[in-house]
Amino acid sequence: MLVFSTSDKGGTGRSVTSCNLAYRLCMSGRNVAYVDFDFGSPTAGALFEISAVERGVPNDVGLHSYLLGETGVAARIDVRTASDRQALRRMGPRAGKLVLLPGDLGGAEFLTADEGVVSRCAELLLTLEHEFKVIIVDLSAGRSVALQLALKATALPQLQSFTARWLVYHRWTRQHILAANGLVHGPHGLMQMGKECGHDPAALLESVRYVRTAVPPTTKETPRQAKGGPPAKDGPPPAKDGTNAKQGPVDLRPAQTAWLLEQNAALKRLASANQLGASTMLGETPVEPVLQWREQVILDMDVDAKIANAATVDAYTELALRLLNEATWERF
Ligand SMILES: Nc1ncnc2c1ncn2[C@@H]1O[C@H](COP(=O)(O)OP(=O)(O)O)[C@@H](O)[C@H]1O
Ligand SMILES: [Mg+2]
Repeated sequence: MLVFSTSDKGGTGRSVTSCNLAYRLCMSGRNVAYVDFDFGSPTAGALFEISAVERGVPNDVGLHSYLLGETGVAARIDVRTASDRQALRRMGPRAGKLVLLPGDLGGAEFLTADEGVVSRCAELLLTLEHEFKVIIVDLSAGRSVALQLALKATALPQLQSFTARWLVYHRWTRQHILAANGLVHGPHGLMQMGKECGHDPAALLESVRYVRTAVPPTTKETPRQAKGGPPAKDGPPPAKDGTNAKQGPVDLRPAQTAWLLEQNAALKRLASANQLGASTMLGETPVEPVLQWREQVILDMDVDAKIANAATVDAYTELALRLLNEATWERF
């Protein structure tokens, strides 16, 4: 399965979420390839804590050079051997392979997706398809050449029979919702570009799902609010560990709680009106304090150490399950 990670803006959480998704898929026994097509800023090496390729691979053996035909094969790095993080090297016998195909250190955005680049891209994806259950391709933000390249390659006859999924990452704000809609449905967006590349619009749209990232806590609704009543005077009681069911610490005044719930409802309406409603969602991730400080893969041991929230790992695990579940991709 080819999974293309896209977003209209930078800083949406596309790479961090995609790496965590790759890790969870790998932990569930799948062989996963992570292909860094964020040509302007290849950061996957840093996320998997491989210091040698923190900002791309040196010596012109990365994806840029491969796509330009300057090197016959693209570099591959086994995360389980190369990561500086011990826990990533010891994933256990039941985990699958996790292989990173890094960009070039100092590589730049491509200016055009010409025929040579497209055919080398298709060849690469075809080779990976035979070896890996899931291939996650992190694309540069916006209506980029990377996006065009992916659309052109997947429209070629040799790749048409393979399953391709398009994940659109966005933050849970007004601007991000509108931007995500624009990336898919707007001028020169995914749908228009896809059609021009020869994709069937209906099939392409069916393969698009949205991921809401770093969704802030609104606090759990009290039974009174759920029935349409006002929020309780003192807000919902925090759980024993100081968190509410889904998110981080509860420390909101009643007025803030009421305002946030109202904003959240308005965002839900805006998302539905922009074709980003619940039926087109793959899932969402909660705000994770660790990720606000540091881009990384969240491990179970981070939760056991009470540093990361269990809800974050649950969200990544759920994304992995839904990605692989055929029911997620049924016609809506
Ligand atoms: N669930 C989350 N909670 C808090 N911060 C997050 C979350 N997911 C991602 N981030 C942070 O958001 C920032 C942007 O993420 P990144 O994956 O680099 O975005 P993109 O690839 O879209 O440019 C990073 O600092 C990252 O750690
Ligand atoms: Mg990124």
